[in-house]
Amino acid sequence: MDDSISQAPYSVSRPTGVPEISIVIPTFNEKENVQELVRLVASAMAGVHWELIFVDDNSPDGTARVVRDLAATDGRVRCIQRLGRRGLSSACIEGMLSSSAKYLAVMDGDLQHDEALLPKMFDTLQSGDVDVVVASRYANGGGTGDWDERRAQLSRASTGLAKRVLHVELSDPMSGFFAIERETFLRLAPELSGVGFKILLDLFASADPPLRFREIPYEFRSRRAGETKVDGMVALDFATMLLQKRIGRVVPPKFVYFCLIGGGGLVVHMLVLWVLFDMAGVAFAASQAIATGVAMVGNFTLNNLITYRESKLSGLAWFRGLFLFCLACSVGAIANVGVASYLFSEGTRWVLSALAGVLVSTVWNYAATAFYVWRVPNTAR
Ligand code: GDD
Ligand code: MN
Repeated sequence: MDDSISQAPYSVSRPTGVPEISIVIPTFNEKENVQELVRLVASAMAGVHWELIFVDDNSPDGTARVVRDLAATDGRVRCIQRLGRRGLSSACIEGMLSSSAKYLAVMDGDLQHDEALLPKMFDTLQSGDVDVVVASRYANGGGTGDWDERRAQLSRASTGLAKRVLHVELSDPMSGFFAIERETFLRLAPELSGVGFKILLDLFASADPPLRFREIPYEFRSRRAGETKVDGMVALDFATMLLQKRIGRVVPPKFVYFCLIGGGGLVVHMLVLWVLFDMAGVAFAASQAIATGVAMVGNFTLNNLITYRESKLSGLAWFRGLFLFCLACSVGAIANVGVASYLFSEGTRWVLSALAGVLVSTVWNYAATAFYVWRVPNTAR
């Protein structure tokens, strides 16, 4: 019996309930697939003491209920249900953190990953020569199944970009199917960005020294039930993760988006002003006021859709958010003018005074709106 168990403050007569490997399955609307998945894993992993940890983001189709029903009759199945959260990567991280098995695997819950690979992945990891075993669609003998040309191109392009930007040597850094030793994962966990779909890439990009890995080719299966959750936002999540890994320690990616949108807002402001004042002959003060309003609503809308897409406001909360956003930015504007005027009166050149004012108000607007409008406690991510 291992030490930690013999030191338990209660008696453990049979340490049989300890799984050797936890297989973490992120799910969102996979009700039709979970039962079959448990059956397939059970037959592929016969002879191994495994457990399946489903991490479900409160799927509207009731996936969590189906998993819990299975768990009620099979102790090897567990369900973590998250409320008010979304995200494949963060779901995987939470599932892995909840495991006490020596080895961890991550696999999709829609039967697209070939569970027959699991025993080989487990054996390879146990041999101790590598830190991670990756099931790869792009290694010799693997394939992307029935993906259309557009999805295949996108995948190849992002794979290439990831390799170049993050210097990862994997043939398939986007794979959502891999196994890792728990201690290795725990060491890297605090460094993970947890954004989006690319948990494996996140792990590799966080590792120093680089992780030792082996790739096992496999053919991506086609989906039988349910649908993919990969959409336009996944591209944005991917960009966020690249930003996070490259500059995240210095500038939070959310601040980058906030500034880009703010810059866009300035362009919109000038365009509206030009049309109203210069072309339509509206009074300057009225034109400036309308341009300010349009830019603020535009900035709020875009930040809500892009910067704070995980905490997106809708319905009444949208209007409340807009009001608070305008309020916070008005305070920012006062600070802007105050700082700039002070510096100017102290003899600073007008351009520098103005830029300092803009900088102060931008940082204030970012921090205040993150906290009061979108209620994000940690704006660093
Ligand atoms: N908990 C949770 N939360 N699970 C999610 C979420 C989410 O927000 N979004 C997706 N999932 C689950 C799905 O239910 C599924 O089990 C798995 O994550 C993969 O999602 P799919 O929507 O089926 O993605 P895909 O098949 O297009 O792409 C997958 O496979 C690729 C190749 O391995 C993903 O794993 C990609 O990251 C991967 O590159
Ligand atoms: Mn899928």
